[in-house]
Amino acid sequence: MIDFKKLTEKYQTPLYVYNFDYMTTQYEELKSAFKGRKSIVAYAVKANSNLSVVKHFARMGSGADCVSIGEVRRAFLAGIPAYKILFSGVGKRDEEIREAIEKDILYINVESEAELGRVEMIAKELKIKSRISIRVNPNIDPKTHPYISTGLHDNKFGVDLNTAKRMYIMANNSEFLDPVGIHFHIGSQLTELGPIRESAEIVADLVRSLQNIKIELKFFDIGGGIGVKYDNETTIKPYDYAQAILGTLTALDLTILCEPGRFLTANAGYFVSKVLYEKQNGAKKFVVVDGAMNDLLRPSLYNAYHKIEAISESTSQERPVDIVGPVCESGDFFAKDYPLPELAHNDLVIVHSAGAYGFGMGSNYNSRGRSAEVALENGQDRLIRKRETFEDLIALEQEFLKD
Ligand code: LLP
Repeated sequence: MIDFKKLTEKYQTPLYVYNFDYMTTQYEELKSAFKGRKSIVAYAVKANSNLSVVKHFARMGSGADCVSIGEVRRAFLAGIPAYKILFSGVGKRDEEIREAIEKDILYINVESEAELGRVEMIAKELKIKSRISIRVNPNIDPKTHPYISTGLHDNKFGVDLNTAKRMYIMANNSEFLDPVGIHFHIGSQLTELGPIRESAEIVADLVRSLQNIKIELKFFDIGGGIGVKYDNETTIKPYDYAQAILGTLTALDLTILCEPGRFLTANAGYFVSKVLYEKQNGAKKFVVVDGAMNDLLRPSLYNAYHKIEAISESTSQERPVDIVGPVCESGDFFAKDYPLPELAHNDLVIVHSAGAYGFGMGSNYNSRGRSAEVALENGQDRLIRKRETFEDLIALEQEFLKD
């Protein structure tokens, strides 16, 4: 049981709290699902990029899947070795590509023919042979929220099979490109194995057809996407996931890479707010808390469900309330018509499953400083990011006030 009251007395609110022991359990479960096979778990840094979180995974031997040079730098700072770092994403600036090549990371995941051309040009300038992988878009419906579905031709990600094949041939003939991997990621919060298996089959077939023309890949990168329980979803078990993937790779000697984010961190995290007051507009009841959509955007952006828990002395009956923050937007809510008892000033409202895509998608909207972040490990708590102050918010603007 986490003592949120004690934590908020020490660190105030709004506050992110992460259970590092839970992250360890999740990492180990996934890693051992691929036991007996060469594999790298490359944590998707975007899910929660706090340096202490990334360092926690680094210590367990994790790699990092990064989508900007900022994330690559975070991975290095956190102690992830270059040979376990990937750089993915649909748009990369020249200087990002250059730095990734110079840093000698495992490979760059290339997402278009135009990008392959840029990588080759930059590698040539640097006189370095750059390791690359190509992201294939298998045109499979992952059956998840449209905003986090990425494996259909309607989505901007990856290239179709024919284009991929052309790109491999081009890369293989280039003095400055070394095609070592193949990548797919069809979406996030996946709760069904079928679409994953189908995609893996399509991509494995492409690997075989490349073998036939003497292009030998080493890495089979299955992306991230394993869903978690926010409510009572049925989820994919890591063991079944691994079996489904391995089943498509008969006679292929490939190192498996997977890029989980949410699976490792979502249910390790809690977002804690204090109740400011309750109010009623007509028949509608609101609980106004001090956390807001700038801290945790998922409910506003995706209408995502997060379990809410109130910590209160209240003995009243539960009634449906909207839990809202102070930001000037009607979309600023954590839940609607959620059953909670009557709450008093300074009671706590805990939003569960907030460890992935929580803090990282935050902003300073309404000139609100970002929350502090706290780690729990072996029964100890420690601050891993300070609360932002007003001075932090204006730091990059203040000097321009002079004239
Ligand atoms: N690999 C690639 C290429 C990705 O695009 C992503 C996530 C991952 C791995 C990690 O996926 P995960 O294992 O966490 O599902 N903001 C959204 C999620 C966006 C996911 C973007 N890509 C949310 O809050 O649900």
